[in-house]
Amino acid sequence: MTLRPVRRADGPLYKNWLRDPTLAGWHGNALDPTAEFRRVLGSRYNFIVEAGGNVVGHVAIEADWERDTSAELGIVIDPLHHRRGYGKRAVSLALAFAFRETRTHRVWAGVLGNNAPALRFFRDIGFSEEGRAREVRLDGDEWIDYVHFSMLRREWAHRM
Ligand SMILES: CC(C)(COP(=O)(O)OP(=O)(O)OC[C@H]1O[C@@H](n2cnc3c(N)ncnc32)[C@H](O)[C@@H]1OP(=O)(O)O)[C@@H](O)C(=O)NCCC(=O)NCCS
Repeated sequence: MTLRPVRRADGPLYKNWLRDPTLAGWHGNALDPTAEFRRVLGSRYNFIVEAGGNVVGHVAIEADWERDTSAELGIVIDPLHHRRGYGKRAVSLALAFAFRETRTHRVWAGVLGNNAPALRFFRDIGFSEEGRAREVRLDGDEWIDYVHFSMLRREWAHRM
């Protein structure tokens, strides 16, 4: 598995992930796929995940690097490649990048409370649930919480 920069040729696949309703938990917002792809293209902090020569997903560590000591992790693995350990390995590489290449103290991720796979995923890979913003989004007639997970630099170092 490798992480590499986002290239122009990744556009169609990346935009399809943004449009895929089953992946909506990834970003939680209605993003404009074209504008979003323009933003991630060539960004030092956005990566395409490759496994066995195939593009299998995207992972990003985002922060206001001038000021922040917290960085937000976002990950999507193409549904064709779920449950093969790619997400876990991609996060592991992204954390190594964040803690080795930046001064980040804390990497966090936000997950909607109805996104059961991602809730289980972050718990399974060693993130701590640190808080819950209550009823941030209406899904049909049900209010959904937003759950924050994080990993601190020392926790990551302890796992190495
Ligand atoms: C969450 C996501 C990244 C997981 O990717 P993945 O490559 O399928 O995950 P992995 O194979 O590495 O799974 C690692 C562990 O996470 C948990 N997990 C992952 N998917 C799960 C699912 N659908 N149901 C239950 N547990 C799940 C399991 O504990 C799994 O370990 P196991 O397979 O040995 O039981 C993927 O489902 C995805 O892209 N979801 C949409 C985007 C999103 O919600 N991103 C998170 C918000 S940033």
